[in-house]
Amino acid sequence: MALVNENYLKLPEYYLFNEIEQKINTFKVLHPDASIIRLGQGDVSRPLPEAVVTAMQNAIVEMSEASTFRGYGPEVGYNFLIDKIIKFDYQSRGVNLSPDEVFISDGSKSDVGNIGHIFGRDNIIAITDPVYPVYENAAIMGGRSGYVTEDAIWSNIVYVPCSEKEGWVPRLPKAKVDIIYLCYPNNPTGIALTKEQLKMWVDYAIENKAIIIYDGAYAAYIREDNIPHSIYEIKGAKKCAIEIRSFSKTAGFTGLRCSYTVVPKDIIGYTMYGECLRVNQLWNRRITTYYNGTSYIVQRGAEAIYSKEGQKQYKEIIDYYLENSAIIRRELSSLGLDVYGGINSPNVWIKTPYKMNSWRFFEELLYDTAVVCIPGDGFGHKGDGFFRFTGFNSRENTEEAMHRFRKWMGQ
Ligand code: MLT
Repeated sequence: MALVNENYLKLPEYYLFNEIEQKINTFKVLHPDASIIRLGQGDVSRPLPEAVVTAMQNAIVEMSEASTFRGYGPEVGYNFLIDKIIKFDYQSRGVNLSPDEVFISDGSKSDVGNIGHIFGRDNIIAITDPVYPVYENAAIMGGRSGYVTEDAIWSNIVYVPCSEKEGWVPRLPKAKVDIIYLCYPNNPTGIALTKEQLKMWVDYAIENKAIIIYDGAYAAYIREDNIPHSIYEIKGAKKCAIEIRSFSKTAGFTGLRCSYTVVPKDIIGYTMYGECLRVNQLWNRRITTYYNGTSYIVQRGAEAIYSKEGQKQYKEIIDYYLENSAIIRRELSSLGLDVYGGINSPNVWIKTPYKMNSWRFFEELLYDTAVVCIPGDGFGHKGDGFFRFTGFNSRENTEEAMHRFRKWMGQ
Protein backbone atom coordinates (compact mmCIF):
# COMPACT_ATOMS: atom_id res chain seq x y z
CA MET A 1 0.00 0.00 0.00
CA ALA A 2 1.53 3.25 -1.11
CA LEU A 3 1.23 5.98 1.49
CA VAL A 4 1.06 9.59 0.41
CA ASN A 5 2.87 12.57 1.89
CA GLU A 6 0.04 13.66 4.15
CA ASN A 7 1.52 17.09 4.50
CA TYR A 8 -0.04 17.81 1.12
CA LEU A 9 -3.44 17.44 2.73
CA LYS A 10 -2.66 20.44 4.89
CA LEU A 11 -2.29 22.71 1.89
CA PRO A 12 -5.11 24.89 0.62
CA GLU A 13 -6.83 23.11 -2.28
CA TYR A 14 -5.23 25.40 -4.87
CA TYR A 15 -1.99 27.33 -5.06
CA LEU A 16 -2.74 31.08 -5.05
CA PHE A 17 -2.22 31.74 -8.74
CA ASN A 18 -4.23 28.64 -9.71
CA GLU A 19 -7.06 29.82 -7.54
CA ILE A 20 -7.01 33.20 -9.24
CA GLU A 21 -6.99 31.48 -12.63
CA GLN A 22 -10.06 29.41 -11.66
CA LYS A 23 -11.89 32.56 -10.65
CA ILE A 24 -10.95 34.24 -13.93
CA ASN A 25 -12.20 31.19 -15.85
CA THR A 26 -15.53 31.34 -14.06
CA PHE A 27 -15.76 35.03 -14.87
CA LYS A 28 -15.00 34.28 -18.55
CA VAL A 29 -17.82 31.76 -18.70
CA LEU A 30 -20.25 34.28 -17.26
CA HIS A 31 -18.92 37.21 -19.29
CA PRO A 32 -17.50 35.76 -22.50
CA ASP A 33 -17.18 39.16 -24.19
CA ALA A 34 -15.37 40.95 -21.39
CA SER A 35 -11.94 42.22 -22.26
CA ILE A 36 -9.89 41.14 -19.28
CA ILE A 37 -6.79 43.06 -18.27
CA ARG A 38 -4.39 41.16 -16.09
CA LEU A 39 -2.39 43.15 -13.59
CA GLY A 40 -2.34 40.10 -11.34
CA GLN A 41 0.28 37.37 -11.68
CA GLY A 42 3.63 38.85 -12.60
CA ASP A 43 3.95 37.38 -16.05
CA VAL A 44 5.94 39.46 -18.49
CA SER A 45 4.42 40.70 -21.74
CA ARG A 46 7.32 42.16 -23.75
CA PRO A 47 9.06 39.83 -26.21
CA LEU A 48 12.54 38.51 -25.49
CA PRO A 49 15.47 40.87 -26.05
CA GLU A 50 16.82 40.52 -29.58
CA ALA A 51 20.26 39.50 -28.31
CA VAL A 52 18.66 36.56 -26.47
CA VAL A 53 16.74 35.44 -29.57
CA THR A 54 19.85 35.59 -31.77
CA ALA A 55 21.93 33.65 -29.23
CA MET A 56 19.28 30.94 -29.00
CA GLN A 57 18.93 30.74 -32.78
CA ASN A 58 22.69 30.23 -33.02
CA ALA A 59 22.52 27.59 -30.29
CA ILE A 60 19.80 25.72 -32.20
CA VAL A 61 22.01 25.70 -35.29
CA GLU A 62 24.84 24.26 -33.17
CA MET A 63 22.49 21.55 -31.94
CA SER A 64 21.58 20.67 -35.52
CA GLU A 65 25.13 19.82 -36.58
CA ALA A 66 26.99 16.72 -35.46
CA SER A 67 30.25 18.58 -34.77
CA THR A 68 28.63 21.09 -32.41
CA PHE A 69 25.72 19.07 -31.04
CA ARG A 70 25.49 18.83 -27.23
CA GLY A 71 23.72 16.27 -25.11
CA TYR A 72 23.78 16.35 -21.32
CA GLY A 73 25.51 19.43 -20.08
CA PRO A 74 26.96 19.98 -16.62
CA GLU A 75 24.10 19.53 -14.13
CA VAL A 76 25.10 22.71 -12.35
CA GLY A 77 25.23 24.81 -15.51
CA TYR A 78 27.73 25.79 -18.18
CA ASN A 79 30.75 27.86 -17.20
CA PHE A 80 30.10 30.32 -20.04
CA LEU A 81 26.98 31.47 -18.16
CA ILE A 82 28.31 31.08 -14.62
CA ASP A 83 31.38 33.21 -15.45
CA LYS A 84 29.18 36.02 -16.83
CA ILE A 85 26.93 35.94 -13.77
CA ILE A 86 29.93 36.22 -11.46
CA LYS A 87 31.47 39.04 -13.47
CA PHE A 88 28.37 41.16 -14.13
CA ASP A 89 26.05 40.46 -11.20
CA TYR A 90 28.65 40.11 -8.44
CA GLN A 91 32.19 41.33 -9.22
CA SER A 92 30.72 44.59 -10.47
CA ARG A 93 29.37 45.06 -6.91
CA GLY A 94 32.56 44.06 -5.15
CA VAL A 95 31.48 40.46 -4.46
CA ASN A 96 33.82 37.60 -5.35
CA LEU A 97 32.41 34.16 -5.97
CA SER A 98 33.97 31.03 -7.36
CA PRO A 99 32.25 29.15 -10.20
CA ASP A 100 31.38 26.20 -7.98
CA GLU A 101 29.28 28.46 -5.80
CA VAL A 102 26.82 29.28 -8.61
CA PHE A 103 24.21 26.72 -9.76
CA ILE A 104 22.10 27.29 -12.85
CA SER A 105 18.53 26.11 -12.62
CA ASP A 106 15.21 26.17 -14.46
CA GLY A 107 13.54 28.84 -12.34
CA SER A 108 13.82 30.34 -8.91
CA LYS A 109 10.44 28.94 -7.89
CA SER A 110 11.85 25.40 -8.31
CA ASP A 111 14.91 26.20 -6.23
CA VAL A 112 12.91 27.98 -3.54
CA GLY A 113 10.99 24.72 -3.10
CA ASN A 114 13.86 22.29 -3.65
CA ILE A 115 16.32 23.95 -1.30
CA GLY A 116 14.30 22.65 1.66
CA HIS A 117 15.39 19.14 0.67
CA ILE A 118 18.92 19.65 1.98
CA PHE A 119 17.80 20.90 5.40
CA GLY A 120 16.61 18.89 8.39
CA ARG A 121 12.91 18.66 9.01
CA ASP A 122 13.13 20.11 12.49
CA ASN A 123 14.39 23.51 11.47
CA ILE A 124 12.21 26.41 12.49
CA ILE A 125 11.33 28.40 9.43
CA ALA A 126 10.71 32.14 9.45
CA ILE A 127 8.82 33.90 6.71
CA THR A 128 7.69 37.48 6.48
CA ASP A 129 3.98 38.20 6.31
CA PRO A 130 2.88 39.13 3.65
CA VAL A 131 5.17 37.26 1.26
CA TYR A 132 5.40 35.12 -1.90
CA PRO A 133 3.35 32.02 -0.95
CA VAL A 134 5.81 29.35 -2.11
CA TYR A 135 7.92 29.61 1.06
CA GLU A 136 5.04 28.70 3.35
CA ASN A 137 3.71 26.07 0.96
CA ALA A 138 7.17 24.47 0.81
CA ALA A 139 7.41 24.41 4.61
CA ILE A 140 4.02 22.68 4.77
CA MET A 141 4.88 20.11 2.11
CA GLY A 142 8.21 19.43 3.81
CA GLY A 143 6.49 18.66 7.12
CA ARG A 144 7.88 21.71 8.88
CA SER A 145 4.68 23.62 9.52
CA GLY A 146 3.14 21.90 12.57
CA TYR A 147 -0.59 22.44 13.11
CA VAL A 148 -2.94 25.37 12.53
CA THR A 149 -3.32 27.50 15.63
CA GLU A 150 -6.38 29.40 16.82
CA ASP A 151 -5.01 32.42 14.95
CA ALA A 152 -5.12 30.38 11.74
CA ILE A 153 -1.34 30.29 11.38
CA TRP A 154 1.08 27.36 11.43
CA SER A 155 2.46 26.53 14.84
CA ASN A 156 6.03 25.76 13.69
CA ILE A 157 6.42 28.67 11.31
CA VAL A 158 7.57 31.99 12.67
CA TYR A 159 5.74 34.78 10.90
CA VAL A 160 7.69 38.01 10.80
CA PRO A 161 5.05 40.70 10.53
CA CYS A 162 5.55 43.53 8.11
CA SER A 163 3.13 46.31 8.83
CA GLU A 164 2.00 49.34 6.93
CA LYS A 165 2.88 51.41 9.99
CA GLU A 166 6.49 50.29 9.78
CA GLY A 167 6.72 50.76 6.02
CA TRP A 168 6.46 46.98 5.46
CA VAL A 169 10.01 46.57 6.80
CA PRO A 170 10.32 43.27 8.68
CA ARG A 171 11.33 43.28 12.33
CA LEU A 172 13.74 40.63 13.64
CA PRO A 173 11.93 37.64 15.15
CA LYS A 174 11.81 37.39 18.91
CA ALA A 175 11.98 33.59 18.74
CA LYS A 176 15.13 31.85 17.56
CA VAL A 177 14.75 30.57 14.02
CA ASP A 178 16.97 28.42 11.80
CA ILE A 179 15.98 29.17 8.21
CA ILE A 180 14.76 32.59 7.12
CA TYR A 181 13.17 33.33 3.77
CA LEU A 182 13.65 36.93 2.70
CA CYS A 183 12.49 38.31 -0.63
CA TYR A 184 13.73 41.79 -1.57
CA PRO A 185 12.64 43.83 -3.41
CA ASN A 186 9.64 42.23 -1.84
CA ASN A 187 6.92 40.28 -3.50
CA PRO A 188 4.16 41.45 -2.94
CA THR A 189 4.81 44.84 -1.31
CA GLY A 190 7.45 46.03 -3.79
CA ILE A 191 9.44 47.43 -0.86
CA ALA A 192 13.23 47.14 -0.93
CA LEU A 193 15.50 46.93 2.13
CA THR A 194 18.39 49.32 2.61
CA LYS A 195 21.87 48.03 3.39
CA GLU A 196 21.41 48.86 7.06
CA GLN A 197 18.07 47.04 7.24
CA LEU A 198 19.44 43.96 5.53
CA LYS A 199 22.56 43.99 7.71
CA MET A 200 20.39 43.44 10.79
CA TRP A 201 19.23 40.16 9.28
CA VAL A 202 22.70 39.04 8.29
CA ASP A 203 23.97 39.79 11.79
CA TYR A 204 21.02 37.93 13.31
CA ALA A 205 21.66 34.89 11.09
CA ILE A 206 25.35 34.75 11.95
CA GLU A 207 24.67 35.11 15.64
CA ASN A 208 22.02 32.37 15.61
CA LYS A 209 23.76 30.04 13.14
CA ALA A 210 20.72 30.47 10.93
CA ILE A 211 20.63 30.48 7.13
CA ILE A 212 18.89 33.12 5.04
CA ILE A 213 17.35 32.08 1.75
CA TYR A 214 17.38 35.35 -0.11
CA ASP A 215 15.04 35.55 -3.09
CA GLY A 216 16.33 38.32 -5.31
CA ALA A 217 14.04 37.70 -8.30
CA TYR A 218 13.38 41.45 -8.68
CA ALA A 219 16.95 42.71 -8.17
CA ALA A 220 17.16 44.09 -11.72
CA TYR A 221 14.38 46.57 -10.85
CA ILE A 222 16.31 48.37 -8.13
CA ARG A 223 16.67 52.03 -9.00
CA GLU A 224 17.45 53.78 -5.72
CA ASP A 225 20.88 54.15 -4.15
CA ASN A 226 21.71 52.41 -0.89
CA ILE A 227 19.59 49.43 -1.87
CA PRO A 228 21.74 46.30 -2.09
CA HIS A 229 21.27 44.34 -5.31
CA SER A 230 22.69 41.24 -3.68
CA ILE A 231 22.72 40.16 -0.05
CA TYR A 232 26.46 39.55 -0.45
CA GLU A 233 26.99 43.30 -0.51
CA ILE A 234 26.47 42.98 3.25
CA LYS A 235 29.56 41.97 5.17
CA GLY A 236 29.36 38.41 6.50
CA ALA A 237 26.49 37.34 4.22
CA LYS A 238 28.61 34.74 2.47
CA LYS A 239 28.65 32.85 5.75
CA CYS A 240 24.89 32.70 6.14
CA ALA A 241 22.97 33.45 2.93
CA ILE A 242 21.90 31.51 -0.12
CA GLU A 243 20.80 33.83 -2.90
CA ILE A 244 18.32 32.87 -5.61
CA ARG A 245 18.04 35.01 -8.73
CA SER A 246 15.99 34.61 -11.85
CA PHE A 247 16.05 35.62 -15.50
CA SER A 248 12.24 35.56 -15.60
CA LYS A 249 11.52 39.14 -14.58
CA THR A 250 14.94 40.37 -15.64
CA ALA A 251 14.89 39.30 -19.25
CA GLY A 252 11.46 37.88 -20.03
CA PHE A 253 12.29 34.23 -19.28
CA THR A 254 8.99 33.31 -17.58
CA GLY A 255 8.27 30.94 -20.47
CA LEU A 256 11.88 29.92 -21.14
CA ARG A 257 12.90 29.10 -17.54
CA CYS A 258 16.36 29.95 -16.27
CA SER A 259 17.62 31.09 -12.88
CA TYR A 260 20.57 30.60 -10.60
CA THR A 261 21.23 29.90 -6.96
CA VAL A 262 24.39 31.00 -5.16
CA VAL A 263 25.49 28.75 -2.32
CA PRO A 264 28.75 30.09 -0.90
CA LYS A 265 31.18 27.48 0.40
CA ASP A 266 31.47 29.33 3.71
CA ILE A 267 27.93 28.42 4.72
CA ILE A 268 27.94 25.71 7.33
CA GLY A 269 25.04 23.51 8.41
CA TYR A 270 25.08 21.08 11.34
CA THR A 271 24.17 17.48 12.02
CA MET A 272 22.27 16.53 15.18
CA TYR A 273 25.66 15.73 16.72
CA GLY A 274 27.07 19.15 15.95
CA GLU A 275 29.20 18.04 13.02
CA CYS A 276 29.76 20.86 10.51
CA LEU A 277 28.94 20.38 6.85
CA ARG A 278 29.24 22.63 3.83
CA VAL A 279 25.76 23.35 2.53
CA ASN A 280 27.29 23.92 -0.91
CA GLN A 281 28.34 20.26 -1.01
CA LEU A 282 24.84 19.07 -0.19
CA TRP A 283 23.25 21.29 -2.81
CA ASN A 284 25.75 20.12 -5.39
CA ARG A 285 24.91 16.52 -4.50
CA ARG A 286 21.21 17.20 -4.82
CA ILE A 287 21.48 18.97 -8.16
CA THR A 288 23.78 16.37 -9.71
CA THR A 289 21.42 13.60 -8.58
CA TYR A 290 18.04 15.08 -9.43
CA TYR A 291 18.75 17.40 -12.32
CA ASN A 292 20.35 17.11 -15.73
CA GLY A 293 20.93 20.77 -16.31
CA THR A 294 19.04 23.66 -17.84
CA SER A 295 18.88 23.42 -21.62
CA TYR A 296 21.99 24.55 -23.50
CA ILE A 297 19.88 26.74 -25.77
CA VAL A 298 18.27 28.55 -22.86
CA GLN A 299 21.61 29.04 -21.10
CA ARG A 300 23.05 30.58 -24.28
CA GLY A 301 20.03 32.89 -24.32
CA ALA A 302 20.64 33.86 -20.68
CA GLU A 303 24.32 34.48 -21.39
CA ALA A 304 23.35 36.95 -24.11
CA ILE A 305 21.79 39.37 -21.64
CA TYR A 306 25.30 40.16 -20.42
CA SER A 307 26.50 41.25 -23.89
CA LYS A 308 26.61 44.98 -24.59
CA GLU A 309 23.44 44.90 -26.73
CA GLY A 310 21.75 42.42 -24.40
CA GLN A 311 22.24 44.69 -21.39
CA LYS A 312 20.88 47.68 -23.24
CA GLN A 313 17.87 45.72 -24.48
CA TYR A 314 16.84 44.12 -21.21
CA LYS A 315 17.28 47.37 -19.29
CA GLU A 316 14.96 49.10 -21.76
CA ILE A 317 12.33 46.43 -21.11
CA ILE A 318 12.66 46.87 -17.35
CA ASP A 319 12.33 50.64 -17.75
CA TYR A 320 9.13 50.01 -19.69
CA TYR A 321 7.63 47.89 -16.90
CA LEU A 322 8.76 50.35 -14.26
CA GLU A 323 7.06 53.14 -16.17
CA ASN A 324 3.85 51.08 -16.05
CA SER A 325 4.29 50.71 -12.29
CA ALA A 326 4.83 54.46 -12.02
CA ILE A 327 1.57 55.03 -13.91
CA ILE A 328 -0.26 52.71 -11.52
CA ARG A 329 1.29 54.47 -8.53
CA ARG A 330 0.45 57.89 -9.87
CA GLU A 331 -3.12 57.10 -10.88
CA LEU A 332 -4.07 55.27 -7.71
CA SER A 333 -2.40 57.80 -5.43
CA SER A 334 -4.32 60.53 -7.19
CA LEU A 335 -7.51 58.67 -6.27
CA GLY A 336 -6.50 59.00 -2.64
CA LEU A 337 -5.45 55.36 -2.17
CA ASP A 338 -2.42 54.38 -0.09
CA VAL A 339 0.14 53.03 -2.52
CA TYR A 340 3.48 51.28 -1.81
CA GLY A 341 6.29 49.78 -3.90
CA GLY A 342 6.56 50.16 -7.65
CA ILE A 343 9.80 52.15 -7.44
CA ASN A 344 12.41 49.41 -7.08
CA SER A 345 10.00 46.73 -8.15
CA PRO A 346 7.29 46.05 -10.74
CA ASN A 347 4.94 45.22 -7.85
CA VAL A 348 2.63 47.91 -6.56
CA TRP A 349 0.88 47.27 -3.24
CA ILE A 350 -2.30 49.17 -2.54
CA LYS A 351 -4.73 49.49 0.34
CA THR A 352 -8.23 48.53 -0.71
CA PRO A 353 -10.75 51.37 -0.72
CA TYR A 354 -13.42 51.41 2.01
CA LYS A 355 -11.38 48.92 4.10
CA MET A 356 -12.67 46.19 1.85
CA ASN A 357 -11.49 42.64 2.49
CA SER A 358 -8.93 41.59 -0.17
CA TRP A 359 -10.87 38.75 -1.77
CA ARG A 360 -14.08 40.72 -1.90
CA PHE A 361 -12.18 43.55 -3.51
CA PHE A 362 -10.64 41.14 -6.03
CA GLU A 363 -14.09 39.81 -7.00
CA GLU A 364 -15.72 43.23 -7.24
CA LEU A 365 -12.91 44.67 -9.30
CA LEU A 366 -13.00 41.69 -11.64
CA TYR A 367 -16.77 41.63 -12.07
CA ASP A 368 -17.17 45.40 -12.38
CA THR A 369 -14.13 46.28 -14.51
CA ALA A 370 -12.63 43.00 -15.82
CA VAL A 371 -9.30 44.05 -14.28
CA VAL A 372 -7.37 41.35 -12.40
CA CYS A 373 -5.38 42.05 -9.24
CA ILE A 374 -3.97 39.70 -6.63
CA PRO A 375 -5.73 39.91 -3.26
CA GLY A 376 -3.27 40.73 -0.51
CA ASP A 377 -4.57 37.99 1.75
CA GLY A 378 -3.19 35.46 -0.74
CA PHE A 379 0.28 36.47 0.47
CA GLY A 380 -0.50 36.06 4.17
CA HIS A 381 -2.92 37.31 6.80
CA LYS A 382 -1.16 40.62 7.13
CA GLY A 383 -1.90 41.24 3.47
CA ASP A 384 -5.61 41.39 4.05
CA GLY A 385 -7.06 44.80 3.19
CA PHE A 386 -4.49 45.23 0.40
CA PHE A 387 -4.12 44.14 -3.20
CA ARG A 388 -1.25 43.90 -5.67
CA PHE A 389 -0.97 45.15 -9.22
CA THR A 390 2.08 44.53 -11.42
CA GLY A 391 3.56 46.69 -14.14
CA PHE A 392 4.10 43.69 -16.44
CA ASN A 393 1.23 44.26 -18.84
CA SER A 394 1.48 46.47 -21.94
CA ARG A 395 1.37 50.27 -21.64
CA GLU A 396 -2.01 50.38 -23.39
CA ASN A 397 -3.55 47.80 -21.07
CA THR A 398 -2.07 49.44 -17.97
CA GLU A 399 -3.51 52.80 -18.99
CA GLU A 400 -6.85 51.26 -19.87
CA ALA A 401 -6.96 49.43 -16.52
CA MET A 402 -6.31 52.71 -14.71
CA HIS A 403 -9.02 54.40 -16.76
CA ARG A 404 -11.52 51.69 -15.77
CA PHE A 405 -10.41 51.87 -12.14
CA ARG A 406 -10.88 55.64 -12.05
CA LYS A 407 -14.34 55.33 -13.54
CA TRP A 408 -15.19 52.53 -11.10
CA MET A 409 -14.23 54.77 -8.22
CA GLY A 410 -16.62 57.37 -9.64
CA GLN A 411 -13.89 59.78 -10.80
C1 MLT B 1 4.02 36.61 -8.94
O1 MLT B 1 3.14 37.15 -9.60
O2 MLT B 1 4.11 36.74 -7.72
C2 MLT B 1 5.04 35.78 -9.66
O3 MLT B 1 4.84 35.81 -11.01
C3 MLT B 1 5.02 34.43 -9.21
C4 MLT B 1 6.21 33.66 -9.60
O4 MLT B 1 7.24 34.20 -9.98
O5 MLT B 1 6.12 32.45 -9.46
